[in-house]
Amino acid sequence: MCFTKFGTITNFFWGTATSSYQIEGGVSEGGRGWSVWDAFCRIPGRVRDMSNGDIACDSYHRFPEDVAMMKQLGVNAYRFSIAWPRIQSTGRGEANPDGIAYYNRLIDLLLENGITPFITLYHWDLPLDLEMAHDGWLNPQITDDFAAYAELCFKAFGDRVKHWITLNEPWCVSVLGYGSGGFPPGRTGDTEPYIVAHHLLLAHGKAVRRFREGGYGGSIGISNNCDWREPLTDSPEDRAAAQRAVEFFYGWFTDPVVFGDYPAVMRERVGARLPQFTAEERALVKGSADFLGLNHYSTLYASETPPENGNDIGANGNGGMSDDQQVCLSVSPDWEQTDMQWNIVPWGFRKLLNWIADRYKGYPVYVTENGCACPEPDAMSAQHDDQRCRFLKGYTDAMLAARKEDGIDVRGYFCWCLMDNFEWTHGYHKRLGLIRVTPGNLERIPKASFYVYREIIQANR
Ligand code: NOJ
Repeated sequence: MCFTKFGTITNFFWGTATSSYQIEGGVSEGGRGWSVWDAFCRIPGRVRDMSNGDIACDSYHRFPEDVAMMKQLGVNAYRFSIAWPRIQSTGRGEANPDGIAYYNRLIDLLLENGITPFITLYHWDLPLDLEMAHDGWLNPQITDDFAAYAELCFKAFGDRVKHWITLNEPWCVSVLGYGSGGFPPGRTGDTEPYIVAHHLLLAHGKAVRRFREGGYGGSIGISNNCDWREPLTDSPEDRAAAQRAVEFFYGWFTDPVVFGDYPAVMRERVGARLPQFTAEERALVKGSADFLGLNHYSTLYASETPPENGNDIGANGNGGMSDDQQVCLSVSPDWEQTDMQWNIVPWGFRKLLNWIADRYKGYPVYVTENGCACPEPDAMSAQHDDQRCRFLKGYTDAMLAARKEDGIDVRGYFCWCLMDNFEWTHGYHKRLGLIRVTPGNLERIPKASFYVYREIIQANR
């Protein structure tokens, strides 16, 4: 047994994460219907190189190899998502037996290998029919469609799966899909994101209610993304700006599931464009998570007025709805950046974990994503991914310090990503994997970070 400066850890999930559209491929097999991403990828100018997830990492066929590699990595948990259109090709109706069979094989293989499955029910691959015929997340009816789909999954897999995540990054669905328009359905504006967010929260609430009433056992939560916002100066204005930015980010989707309403600062600033929870809706969403998921990637400085040093990054990072928050964001020239231009600031991660524990007292936290994109044009550079190795060491140390020294109830860490995959609008150009997936033949090759993460896990089991 290895001891680190943090001592040994028991009952902790060390895992990796992926999502269905990003890795599966097999898009026309097993009765799968099209998702909004299958269609979006075919619109010129939307996705780099007009890439798509038709083949991706081909995990639909190669999952036994992927599980074997996870075993070698030493993880005891794997977070993956179910493709809604594999279970219901149009988003409604009976469960598709072939879709159920595919995930049964994956779940059983994970369990045989001592790897605990964490299932995400929605990682953005909405059945296309729900979008085309029913207006997708803009239509309140989707809240019942999602709950019905979730229940099919609980019934099929709930005997073996005890950790569930309803939604992945609803912030991205709302802001990127309906605010800036970079994600499907590609709409822009400053009102629809709030309506869509409201429907996402109600869909989450209805799914959780079915889970709890069904008595499946286990726990269920939501994965919200958030960067850290550090006050640029110690002035009350800058501290308020940073606080406001995190409330608009993490609080938007977490306050309702914990407290039953949006943050007060959002209600004041967004005004009539922010939907109000009815008494019934409030009762539905309040307390609708057993744990809080956190996807975390970056940190920025926040201030009330633009910094004088010229490091302002403008409205970027505010999701295009910066007028509602009015927070100025800036970087430090000292910060190293990933290939996504996200800043590598492990102390920001630790501060965010403290912020979450302080605001949402008593809620366990799972870090459901954290990882680093590196420029890796060839096999050689991928196998010497020093930046990712340093990133993982820095961020896991920060998390362990939050756990051990600050007493934060963090129960798991999922490195994004198990392997290089389809990185949404970036196509296959951004690589976040611990394993390189060779373009063309899809051969899996562990990178240096694979072994570094294995050591971190072994040292902190
Ligand atoms: C968050 C998303 O959940 C995931 O799909 C994506 O690949 C990573 N961030 C990296 O951008």
